[in-house]
Amino acid sequence: MGQSLRTHTCGELRASHVGERVALAGWVHRRRDHGHLTFIDLRDRYGITQVVTSADDGPQAHAAADPARGEWVVRVEGGVRHRPEGTANPELATGEIEVAVDRFEVLNASKVPPFYINEEQPGLDESLRLKHRYLDLRRPPVQERMLLRSRLASAIRRALEDEGFVEIETPSLIRSTPEGARDFVVPSRLRPGEFYALPQSPQVLKQLLMVAGYDRYYQLARAWRDEDLRGDRQPEHTQVDIEMSFVTEEDVLDTVERMVTRVAGEVLPDRPLLHQPFPRLTYEEAMDRYGSDKPDIRFGMELVELTDAVAGVDFRVFSEPIAAGGRVRAICAPGCAGYSRKQLDELTDLARRHGAAGLVHLAVGDDGALSGPAAKFLDASVQEAISQQTGSGPGDLLLIVADADPIRGAEALGHLRLEMGDRLGLRTPGVLAYLWIRRFPMFTWDAEGQRWDATHNPFSAPVWEELDRMESDPGSVHAQQYDLVLNGWESGGGSIRIHRREVLERAFALMGHTLESARDQFGALLDALEYGAPPHGGIAIGLDRWAALYAEVDNIREVMAFPKTQSGTDLMLDAPSPIGPEQLDELHLRVMRDD
Ligand code: AMO
Repeated sequence: MGQSLRTHTCGELRASHVGERVALAGWVHRRRDHGHLTFIDLRDRYGITQVVTSADDGPQAHAAADPARGEWVVRVEGGVRHRPEGTANPELATGEIEVAVDRFEVLNASKVPPFYINEEQPGLDESLRLKHRYLDLRRPPVQERMLLRSRLASAIRRALEDEGFVEIETPSLIRSTPEGARDFVVPSRLRPGEFYALPQSPQVLKQLLMVAGYDRYYQLARAWRDEDLRGDRQPEHTQVDIEMSFVTEEDVLDTVERMVTRVAGEVLPDRPLLHQPFPRLTYEEAMDRYGSDKPDIRFGMELVELTDAVAGVDFRVFSEPIAAGGRVRAICAPGCAGYSRKQLDELTDLARRHGAAGLVHLAVGDDGALSGPAAKFLDASVQEAISQQTGSGPGDLLLIVADADPIRGAEALGHLRLEMGDRLGLRTPGVLAYLWIRRFPMFTWDAEGQRWDATHNPFSAPVWEELDRMESDPGSVHAQQYDLVLNGWESGGGSIRIHRREVLERAFALMGHTLESARDQFGALLDALEYGAPPHGGIAIGLDRWAALYAEVDNIREVMAFPKTQSGTDLMLDAPSPIGPEQLDELHLRVMRDD
């Protein structure tokens, strides 16, 4: 380590150092007093080392250690020695040795922290953690996650640099970029009444860099979105932002997959990638098979189409949605035939919360016969067809959703599938199941505005072979748009962009704009595309989600140093906060209050 205050870290000393004189500095993790001996576990982010003061061998150091309590910052000097026979601690990397202290210095005292730093505290209040985040960040499990994130970011950088990407920083004070969320805005002092927007992503800027000829760009970029927060969403997040020129969709997917595979191997060498190469599903396949455009494919339990099998059945729950053009689909939960009324009610509630009108459940008996409230409507041949198509057997539970809206029905069943995956322990921790979802519909019909709208980004290119039906049948055109999915989370998304003016004009016309009217929104990008824009495309992968999935936590807050609460506040800095009248004046702002 070779610094003036310490020779080694608290995680470094081994039996091979016995006999050396060392200096360590760190926090008092735990102390145990045995009269003339005091044992202190000294901690830093590298580990814990036991240091011992003795009234007999080092009375001055022993006295100096007397006041030191938990979380005080201290420095010790002494000799490394073997721990006495039978007292080695195999749980600690430094567990074979201890430091016999002859010099003890308090570098700083500490108040008693509001929660334990040195042990797990189940149910520890989240707001207390966030208010004292610097103490929370000092806790070893939290430090481990932050260090994992750092290793992840540096592995990503290495992999991309080795592939010839250059990192270019883009500004944070820009003009509004339409990415689908609300902007955070920053008032301009010099231009009264005007505002910058914080980028929702560097999308426009990275496309401009392609026009400028930087054919392989990347950036670990901060992005800001004012949207409702959830476990996987924060008002600011970091994207591994990538854009490439002279590429096809294949090229982007291959490059990203190679990078992601290499990074996984370096950062989590012990965690297997379930599929290599990553499966590639179209959006429609994903919806049909998993009821989700971000399926967790660590387990099967795929949706089974039963519409034809039950088409002739005289049961309104099935016949009405089918008559309205809907579908009837099922999943088979193995071994769950014995589910109680209460458990089935919970599943029905879940299906309803996700838009289904209801849930039909059928248990498969030992003789293969189906039972449940709907069974009486299903004659033997229909029951046989259902069993066959779902591949179900005695002891299984069939969960069936019929819906006039096939997407809504599939999504409800997709949520049930995840729930059953959780209940049955099929979402195996540790396994990384990456896949690509591609070929999203290019346009969706906006019934309110009576026009077609871009499903994602208005610059996403159509599948070129489908270009000529853009006007005649826009609903059937797919975009060269792809998402990278990991264990049921959307981990990244991108597309090949439209780089030619005439294609853009057609897409905008379909959405009810001329290029001229779109200029206000897309300004510089539209201009630039007319100055020799190369074919290009890219992706942005959410670094926070990536780190959370690698750290196996279900909230991205756990892998962000200073995250916001669910309501978007920073409890430690107490932000947002009012600003004074002078600052408001300077910014030419007046605050309107509702009261
Ligand atoms: P997109 O909007 O899909 O694409 O965002 C890319 C990825 O960023 C992550 N992400 C978030 N993470 C945490 N909190 C949020 N609020 C949040 N919003 C997004 C997700 C997501 O997959 N410019 C395009 C990319 C492109 O086309 O190249 C874009 O930003 O992991």
